[in-house]
Amino acid sequence: MLQWLMPYKRSSLMTMQPPPYLVNEHYDDRYFDVVNAIEEAKHVYFRGVGIMDVLSAARPGRKEFRIGETGFGAGRLLIALMDFLDNCGITDIAITYNSVELHPVTSERMESILDVFRPETGPLIDQLVRVYSRVEISKPGWHRIQLTRPFGVLNLNLWIGEALEMVHALTIPCDAWFLDGHGPKKNPAMWRHELLMVIGEKTVTGGTCATFTVAGEVRRGLMAAGFSVEQRPGFGGKKSVLKGLKL
Ligand SMILES: C[S@@+](CC[C@H](N)C(=O)[O-])C[C@H]1O[C@@H](n2cnc3c(N)ncnc32)[C@H](O)[C@@H]1O
Repeated sequence: MLQWLMPYKRSSLMTMQPPPYLVNEHYDDRYFDVVNAIEEAKHVYFRGVGIMDVLSAARPGRKEFRIGETGFGAGRLLIALMDFLDNCGITDIAITYNSVELHPVTSERMESILDVFRPETGPLIDQLVRVYSRVEISKPGWHRIQLTRPFGVLNLNLWIGEALEMVHALTIPCDAWFLDGHGPKKNPAMWRHELLMVIGEKTVTGGTCATFTVAGEVRRGLMAAGFSVEQRPGFGGKKSVLKGLKL
């Protein structure tokens, strides 16, 4: 229990409620489970898609990796990814990170949401909030941001709008997908058949996907989209999570 409460601010401890800025009011769901959400990202998503295997095996000159994310939120997965890559011992990689957000948060709210990770990733949060504050979030379509890091360069292509539009707009398929658009009960649209089918089309053969949910409709949808799926041990009290391999 203590572990659940620790990251919450003192005022929230009194009510046992998550801080209001952590709840996405459009889906009545949290942006992420606050306990160890950086470690959770590494376990569920980065190990789930086998990013280190791909980057370590890449031939010289091809150290690039294309990621798709459904549900940018406040950028927690992106912060966790940059932290992971900064410390993975690889340099000179180019990451293209295609993400999408239908209800973009302001940069002030992004900062509040990410604040809980400040002890581990403060400079990364500052860098992301600084560049994100220049994004015109009321303008639909692509917004492109480049971040230079010790591991190399990260090109963030953020689509403001609906997930299906973003996936259709991709001209180059992704090596891996992070599927993180709230649970299928709270937000079935993010897991609809039509969207998962297009994600399958926009994934290279041998590419991967990972998600926190093992719901039957998600597994069936991913299989219909051309992935073989496998449950892996979960994280932080969650029994299992899912990874997929594009056949
Ligand atoms: C669980 S949150 C994302 C968390 C984020 N990946 C992180 O690690 O902080 C899911 C996000 O998906 C967005 N979203 C939900 N449905 C969407 C849709 N149909 N198209 C685009 N974004 C959507 C929500 O607004 C929310 O910000």
